[in-house]
Amino acid sequence: MKLSVIGCGYLGAVHAASMAQLGHEVVGIDVDEAKIASLTRGEATFFEPGLPEILASAIATGRLRFSTEMSDAAGASVHFVAVGTPQQRGSYAADLTYVDAAVNALIPFLSDGDLVVGKSTVPVGTAERLAGMITAASGAQLAWNPEFLREGFAVKDTISPDRLVYGLPAGAAGERAKAQLDEVYATTLANDTPLVVTDYATAELVKVSANAFLATKISFINAMAEIAEVTGADVTQLADALGFDARIGRRFLGAGVGFGGGCLPKDIRAFTARAEELGRGESVAFLKEVDKINLRRRDRVVDLVVDALGGEPFEKKVAVLGLAFKPFSDDVRDSPALDVAVRLHGLGADVTATDPEAIPNSRRMHPQLTFAEKLEDALRDAEVIVLVTEWNEFRHLLPADVEPYTSGRTIIDGRNALDPVAWRAAGWTYVGLGRP
Ligand code: UDX
Repeated sequence: MKLSVIGCGYLGAVHAASMAQLGHEVVGIDVDEAKIASLTRGEATFFEPGLPEILASAIATGRLRFSTEMSDAAGASVHFVAVGTPQQRGSYAADLTYVDAAVNALIPFLSDGDLVVGKSTVPVGTAERLAGMITAASGAQLAWNPEFLREGFAVKDTISPDRLVYGLPAGAAGERAKAQLDEVYATTLANDTPLVVTDYATAELVKVSANAFLATKISFINAMAEIAEVTGADVTQLADALGFDARIGRRFLGAGVGFGGGCLPKDIRAFTARAEELGRGESVAFLKEVDKINLRRRDRVVDLVVDALGGEPFEKKVAVLGLAFKPFSDDVRDSPALDVAVRLHGLGADVTATDPEAIPNSRRMHPQLTFAEKLEDALRDAEVIVLVTEWNEFRHLLPADVEPYTSGRTIIDGRNALDPVAWRAAGWTYVGLGRP
């Protein structure tokens, strides 16, 4: 099929390349000229394992190209909208400026029978509104097809998702839209991927409620970590024991410095804002607690570092291991790790931060910080080490790896990723989150 993908960020670039990989002819469109120039050369504009390989192979087949001209969407029969929906300035609500701009710019190039497919995460009710705009101005229809990809596994999650959700209009238009989506995802559906066919509102809600649930699960275990900290319990053992209950499961019970990234934090806030607009603020009021618990964990890590420095962080050398919001990503949007580095710097500590992939993005946002490409340069003369993103190169560290460089013998494990026994046995003060 001929497809267009509007928006070539973390979501759209992966979607465009993955759809070409599945055999479709795809044009990726974005207003950012530098981004399009780089993608046209086959270079990803962010770190995502597997993306450079599928970009290169799809471009080589001639099935994938990129453009800054919306007119290049003309001729495609299915148009994916994959632009960002960040948090509005001065409000918790989602900013729909980019979604509206993309749809308005696309409308003149739509033909009768085309399908516009929303992939962006939007407040419930948006699809209904956009559908009105699209059908009034063209003979095209709208479907809502939320995306559940995780950064770091985005290619796999796009080509082999754990489920597909179609939010469709009623009646014959919906049947035609379903047939078009089934053709787009023929390979995925042939692999027995579960499919939920539903209405717009449900499809929009699936996405925000999935992220709300995941955020709640993380904050739940972090709340237990707070209780563990005053009782001497060990939250990692607690999580293991809870996780054996198949109804609970161990995944997303990783207690630590909390969640960040371009999705979970802003999606729970946009959800509360939308629920309040709908007069149902109380239904998701707990998400504000989820948010607060999450943010308290950052305070906790900063406090632990300050305590380890005897309450006097000024001019003390601290090595911050990790900047990305999670491993296998260079994304620092709302990153707890970067936040901890910035706050320690703000307290006057002499912070050097390192990360395998996220230094360039961190430097752009916080040029005041000192960064080290090499781990040993971050560690040199550090009185305290604080691990805040659990990259493999950090989680497998042993005392002997760092002792040649550091001046102190204290490590704060903000991700509960290290083995306390090994560190303590070597004479270190090991401090985890919610661990005795
Ligand atoms: C998330 C959803 O998982 C995905 O389905 C959705 O499409 C987009 O948002 P992503 O933002 O890529 O994906 O990251 P995810 O793997 O969910 O991690 C989010 C944050 O939670 C990270 O900062 C991570 O470190 C943190 N986290 C995760 C924990 O603190 N503990 C855990 O146990 C798991």
